Amino acid sequence: MKNLAIIGAQWGDEGKGKIVDMMCENFDVVVRFQGGHNAGHTVIIGDEKYILHLIPSGILHPNKMCYMANGMVIDPIALKKEILELEERGIDVKNRLFISKRAHLIHPIHKLFESKDEELRGKSAIGTTRRGIGPAYGDKYLRMGLRTGDILDEKVFFEKIEFFLKEKSSLYNFKFNTPKEFDEFIEASLFIKNFLDDIYFRLEEDIEKGKKILFEGAQGTMLDIDFGTYPFVTSSNSSSLGITAGAGISPLKINGILGIFKAYTTRVGGGPFPTELKGEMGEYLRREGGEYGASTGRPRRCGWLDLFQMKYSTTLNGFTSLAITKLDVLDNLSEIKVCTGYEVNGGPFKNFPSTLDKLSKVKPIFKTFKGWGKKISHIKNFKDLPFEVREYLSFIEEYLNVEISIISVGPSRKSTILKNKSKLFSEFLND
Ligand code: GDP
Ligand code: IMO
Ligand code: MG
Repeated sequence: MKNLAIIGAQWGDEGKGKIVDMMCENFDVVVRFQGGHNAGHTVIIGDEKYILHLIPSGILHPNKMCYMANGMVIDPIALKKEILELEERGIDVKNRLFISKRAHLIHPIHKLFESKDEELRGKSAIGTTRRGIGPAYGDKYLRMGLRTGDILDEKVFFEKIEFFLKEKSSLYNFKFNTPKEFDEFIEASLFIKNFLDDIYFRLEEDIEKGKKILFEGAQGTMLDIDFGTYPFVTSSNSSSLGITAGAGISPLKINGILGIFKAYTTRVGGGPFPTELKGEMGEYLRREGGEYGASTGRPRRCGWLDLFQMKYSTTLNGFTSLAITKLDVLDNLSEIKVCTGYEVNGGPFKNFPSTLDKLSKVKPIFKTFKGWGKKISHIKNFKDLPFEVREYLSFIEEYLNVEISIISVGPSRKSTILKNKSKLFSEFLND
């Protein structure tokens, strides 16, 4: 049994899509277990660029099965669009994509509600993707959610929709002219009906048959609803803590957790960001790294790598290996900084602060590294990396006490260095 999870270690957009795509060859099934189309996972194959929002990135590999599990919130309109776009580009989706009957649906009122809510918050708006993610999870926990499985019984489905239209929209004082706003939603829901299945059961059968499962996290640990920088988070457990409840699988069946992190830090939307660079250096990272949201196109905030945050993330997730991405973005810098701790009033922090108030007052402690000053995107073997890169990587490994097994030096599949002496390689990729 060799099942692996790929988890964002920072605030999302770490390059999970690229790494999932690159690892996929060694797995049979790829599973999304939380989030929705707030995610944007970029995969570049040759000259083709794909951005996946809901469908697991494994769909780009013929013959791999893709599951969207119960922990997700699914906007059927967005999903239908994604399926049709992939099919138009020659990707076979039918009979390879299976959606849990227990996932929750995002409907038009969720999106309206979120827009109103963000407006009401004014300056303290979270800066959500406005996809209706939070309101859909809210309804799930209020036990008034509309589930994918409801589509199967049209009577139940239409009764529930009637309820949302009449009761909930009046509760929130929304003006729906006619139920027309729901027409597209209903049509798309009926379109995805044929993809519905019992994902926990498929996983059980797959594992019994010796198939290997790859769990594809969305967002990142610092956006986790419980352990992220609340309330500037998403509404699901986007760390490894969300896998078991989100996919319906025992923790004993997850054999490794690969944490993905950028060689610097980014975040989109509001909320604390201790190592943020607001001036010229932040602009530089944004420009060199192409740091604009894959889902919303918003500019990402940029800052230095924060190892104190990464230590917190490593502890929570239990990373067994790490993949560093976008190292090439630092190529031309003469100096590179890394945060090794936080202090307030001269005293260091032991734990990662749990409140916004504390986090807003911390002063990051930086260690400065000499840059390597040359291009590294063409390098294929670890030993060929400049000395300064290897020094930078070993400092990170020692600090976090986890091996960096993958070094990504460019957006494409081929710009990747895989340490073939690593535990990740011998345990998960060596066949
Ligand atoms: P995800 O949400 O974690 O899948 O990440 P995104 O796709 O939102 O953002 C990562 C961006 O960085 C995408 O545009 C990728 O094509 C790009 N990318 C991934 N790895 C690398 C890398 O090593 N170097 C460079 N320059 N770009 C990368
Ligand atoms: P991937 O999977 C980066 C951020 C939003 C906002 C907060 C809450 O591509 O890494 P939400 O719409 O989820 O309620 O917004 O979370 N956010 C992401 N940031 N990458 C993502 O996904 C994100 N998904 C949500 O910008 O700050
Ligand atoms: Mg993304």
